[in-house]
Amino acid sequence: MTEPLDPQAILDRNRRAWDRLVARDDGFTRPADDQACRDGLRTVDPLGWLGDDLRGKRVLCLAAGGGRQGPIYASAGGIVTVVDLSPAMLERDRQVALERRLDLRTVETSMDDLGMFDVGEFDVVIHPVATCYLPDIAAVYRQVARVLRSGGIYVSQHKTPTSLQTAIAPSERGYLLEEPYYRTGPLPEVAGSRLREEGCLEFLHRWEELIGGLCRAGFVIEDLVEPCHAKAEDPIGSFGHRARFVAPYVRIKARRTGVEGGTERRSLWIPS
Ligand SMILES: C[S@@+](CC[C@H](N)C(=O)[O-])C[C@H]1O[C@@H](n2cnc3c(N)ncnc32)[C@H](O)[C@@H]1O
Repeated sequence: MTEPLDPQAILDRNRRAWDRLVARDDGFTRPADDQACRDGLRTVDPLGWLGDDLRGKRVLCLAAGGGRQGPIYASAGGIVTVVDLSPAMLERDRQVALERRLDLRTVETSMDDLGMFDVGEFDVVIHPVATCYLPDIAAVYRQVARVLRSGGIYVSQHKTPTSLQTAIAPSERGYLLEEPYYRTGPLPEVAGSRLREEGCLEFLHRWEELIGGLCRAGFVIEDLVEPCHAKAEDPIGSFGHRARFVAPYVRIKARRTGVEGGTERRSLWIPS
């Protein structure tokens, strides 16, 4: 069995990597534009999972720095807190908030350490793709369950395990399944792909961790979609072409129940 990495080393490594991505103006670090802020919820909640009125709702944008998510939810009337590990990503939120005269709170912490917030402090938690940056997703779910009020909505998006297992570039036989499903430790690094962030340590979470973990943390799942990025016309090897074969992301709508789920790990798999 591989030695588990020091949790602080993972955070330090990923913080530095995201700060570098901001310096490079990577796509995922770009702030919301005028159109996105005007369209408000339609941009970030195309399925209407949050209803049509966010005014006065306390929204936690978790691991969501970069000046996009937070400002859009604030423009839609939410009372927004943005949490992120990367100071540079949070600085983008503060800049956008200043320019657009939005009230926005930023907190630098890891998504599995939300002890600075009260129990049930938020009505809604929005969690864009980020759970891949930590090995233990159950710890994140436990924290979200603590800060979300009973009946509150938790919308999270994740990289699918199949996508993380699959080669980025096709071989003659197509996109090969290269990584084991049952695995521990960070995934091998990949450069130059929109599917993986350069310099970051990323981890695969199995479906039993992604979905079963939510149930065990005290959530019920109300909906689940795989946003379609498949593009029939796109060239072989492109993001849109690969997405015809493997869904890159899954988006889950969960609701916090009043009932505590068990926190013990339920898996029939014993790492060897
Ligand atoms: C794909 S970005 C999400 C935000 C992006 N601007 C968007 O609109 O989708 C992932 C974010 O997760 C943050 N992150 C990585 N590890 C984290 C951790 N352990 N705790 C909190 N945030 C983390 C990164 O700094 C980055 O801002």
